[in-house]
Amino acid sequence: MNQKGMEPVGDSKWFTEARFGMYIHWGLYSLGARHEWMRGREFLSNEQYEKYFKRFDPDLYDPELWAQLASDAGMKYMVVTTKHHEGFCLWDSKLTDYKVTNTPYGKDLLRPMLDAFRGKGIRAGLYYSLLDWHHSQYTVDVKHPQRYDAAFVEQSKQRDFSKYVDYLFGQTRELLSEFGDIDVLFYDFSIAAEEGFPGKGKEAWQSEKLVKLIRELQPRIMLNDRLQVPGDITTPEQYQPREWIKVNGRRVVWEACHTFSGSWGYYRDEESWKSVDMLLQMLIDTVAKGGNLLLNVGPTGRGEFDERAVDRLKGMGGWMRRHSRSIYGCTAAPEAFECPPDCRFTYNPDTNRLYLHVFAWPFKQLHLSNFSGRVEYAQLLNDASEIRMVEGEKKLTMEAGAFDEGRPANTLTLQLPVKKPNVAVPVIELFLRDQ
Ligand code: GLC
Repeated sequence: MNQKGMEPVGDSKWFTEARFGMYIHWGLYSLGARHEWMRGREFLSNEQYEKYFKRFDPDLYDPELWAQLASDAGMKYMVVTTKHHEGFCLWDSKLTDYKVTNTPYGKDLLRPMLDAFRGKGIRAGLYYSLLDWHHSQYTVDVKHPQRYDAAFVEQSKQRDFSKYVDYLFGQTRELLSEFGDIDVLFYDFSIAAEEGFPGKGKEAWQSEKLVKLIRELQPRIMLNDRLQVPGDITTPEQYQPREWIKVNGRRVVWEACHTFSGSWGYYRDEESWKSVDMLLQMLIDTVAKGGNLLLNVGPTGRGEFDERAVDRLKGMGGWMRRHSRSIYGCTAAPEAFECPPDCRFTYNPDTNRLYLHVFAWPFKQLHLSNFSGRVEYAQLLNDASEIRMVEGEKKLTMEAGAFDEGRPANTLTLQLPVKKPNVAVPVIELFLRDQ
């Protein structure tokens, strides 16, 4: 129960089993190709930004291909920016002209996308920006691109923010009633006041009323936590939490969202792309702490995934094909299992199997403290080859002489191959004995 007495109510069962989703950031900023915040970073006005609206024409857009790439990577849900801070809408909203159907492309992008992903068994989620830098009634705040433009600030004092709130409610209604079952809703975001400029939070967005509307339209939806009122999912961004996230002392459903390279929108010149190995370690680390990973792709203005993203997705998919058993339906291991250095445990409570992910291959032995008697069988997950085990204290032989190598009696030693198996992150599947 949270401080407001409203228990989060979304359907979290499928969500915590799925563990791995695709985020998609797509909009006019794909043409600028230098970050989805480019309008804010460069303090651009509606007029200066208009050139992208006039030229938005993703002629190579193939949602079936996108869905296939997500599915092959092992992703089980997706979340797409229906509208980002720039205000541009990817669907044919009746409440604005600032939408894809009025660009040279001329067609709705959203429905075919949701259809294609659902067709591959991937659940559909929507991102919606609370910020809106294009709307005629959205008032200036600390994040607004034109906050330093005195004439603009003066003139926008006439704005009636309640009209923007009507728009936010109206678009929410459209998105949640015209596109079938929506599994996830990601609002972004509440702003703290700073530098003498106002912010916007739950009073501004009318968050409590909005949540009622959302629950009424889609009772099972998983709602995130950025409306400044409790939601179903806590959403740390671009970092890995140290442990399972807690709110008011209780473990919560959480999802880390990450980029491949730093920017969410397509960024042509960015060179800080993460490797497949690092991305897999992030996925594993997340599940080991009881969370989900939402990994972002920023498609180009032609409507294709960045080739560097395709490379990472394929690399992750190759690993997932053999190792998804250590991800789907898994969570943090019970605390009694002490994880060795440079490793992560995930655990499947239904099968009572523990998965040991080895980030740094340790030569030929891996010692598990306090594990003696707890494991019935062990194998490498990639090829189901047995990993032989030695229980307890090392027996000293005459030849070895008398020395102590610090292996207490309760140690279980896994006898590994000297060479690291040829996979990004080797996983040892431990079949636990019933307690
Ligand atoms: C942030 C950024 C935004 C991005 C989002 C992803 O709040 O403003 O550009 O869409 O996080 O969750």
